[in-house]
Amino acid sequence: MSDKLIVFDTTLRDGEQSPGASMTHEEKVRIAKQLEKLRVDIIEAGFAAASNGDFDSVRAIALAIKDATVCSLARANDRDIARAGEALRGANSARIHTFIATSALHMEKKLRMTPDQVFEQARLAVRFARQYTDNIEFSPEDGSRSDPDFLCRVLEAVIAEGATTINVADTVGYAVPEQYGEFIRMLRERIPNSDKAVWSVHCHDDLGLAVANSLAGIKIGGARQVECTINALGERAGNCSLEEVVMAVKTRKDYFGLDVGIETTQIMPASRLVSGITGFVVQPNKAIVGANAFAHASGIHQDGVLKARQTYEIMRAEDVGWAANKIVLGKLSGRNAFKQRLLELGIELDSEQAVNEAFTRFKDLADRKSEIFDEDIHALVSGEQGEA
Ligand code: KIV
Ligand code: ZN
Repeated sequence: MSDKLIVFDTTLRDGEQSPGASMTHEEKVRIAKQLEKLRVDIIEAGFAAASNGDFDSVRAIALAIKDATVCSLARANDRDIARAGEALRGANSARIHTFIATSALHMEKKLRMTPDQVFEQARLAVRFARQYTDNIEFSPEDGSRSDPDFLCRVLEAVIAEGATTINVADTVGYAVPEQYGEFIRMLRERIPNSDKAVWSVHCHDDLGLAVANSLAGIKIGGARQVECTINALGERAGNCSLEEVVMAVKTRKDYFGLDVGIETTQIMPASRLVSGITGFVVQPNKAIVGANAFAHASGIHQDGVLKARQTYEIMRAEDVGWAANKIVLGKLSGRNAFKQRLLELGIELDSEQAVNEAFTRFKDLADRKSEIFDEDIHALVSGEQGEA
């Protein structure tokens, strides 16, 4: 089994399904170029058959991107697949991603098809897609709630038809980590030709488990592709967050043992771009890309970080594209952090007693003001004590 984790970004497709997050053609091309800088392996550029606008965006991205595979989603029917194939024509590397629901609930209530009809349609869709590219991904929609016997039958057949990636979709975020990981492991063990495909995880965040489920699919299930979005954008509660899953696998390489080809210093630029374009503000305490992700407020933590950053930082802020970590001066800060800020600001006080007095004034001010800025410090040491 490969020791590389393939990163499939679907910000432009599933991410755009976030209510209120639609993007213009130009914005999608800008995001795609940023994803290329981020060095994602696959960019799902859109759903070519959804509209002429989506077709044009997939086409423009297919022609603009050189270093990543460009993918279009398509339902498992000839029209959708032909539109995807056309939109991708001319791409350096193209993938068609076709899907059909396989859970009893979806087949009966939504598709109004029998399992045999779904089986046949899935098989024929992959066969049809083969005339456009050899790079075909098949997703059993609502896969995690599908009957294992039926799913094995469908997946074995689509692999035999030439599907090269099998993406076990947890469409409604129903899975829990261990169970989802075991489910993928069971599928891989039971399907005789399973090693002819790369197995992929696609998790939604309805229970806040998208990243945990994806990691379990990788660790327990042996998946080697993860589908994710910048800032966890996506349908309803969102998709698995690219920044979180990538940094988890990288930071805990000792546990996952996998390489990820992402240029992590491009994570913050990607996050800011997507947030700016969609208007979806990133919560301050969001892992990796939130404003507080590398900010230290408590005196004990500040002291630790000033002595050795690893005491309270498991990653370096600079490695994910922040300029630096942040020591936030406030009422919890200690003398050490205060002295360090004086040093950074080039303020030299002539005695320890002067430092102590300034520190006392600082603490008084901090009781009245939640964050102390550099202007406040200048005012403090010049004796003004004003609130900047
Ligand atoms: O969540 C889902 O099931 C999807 C599929 C199209 C893969 O996004
Ligand atoms: Zn999805």
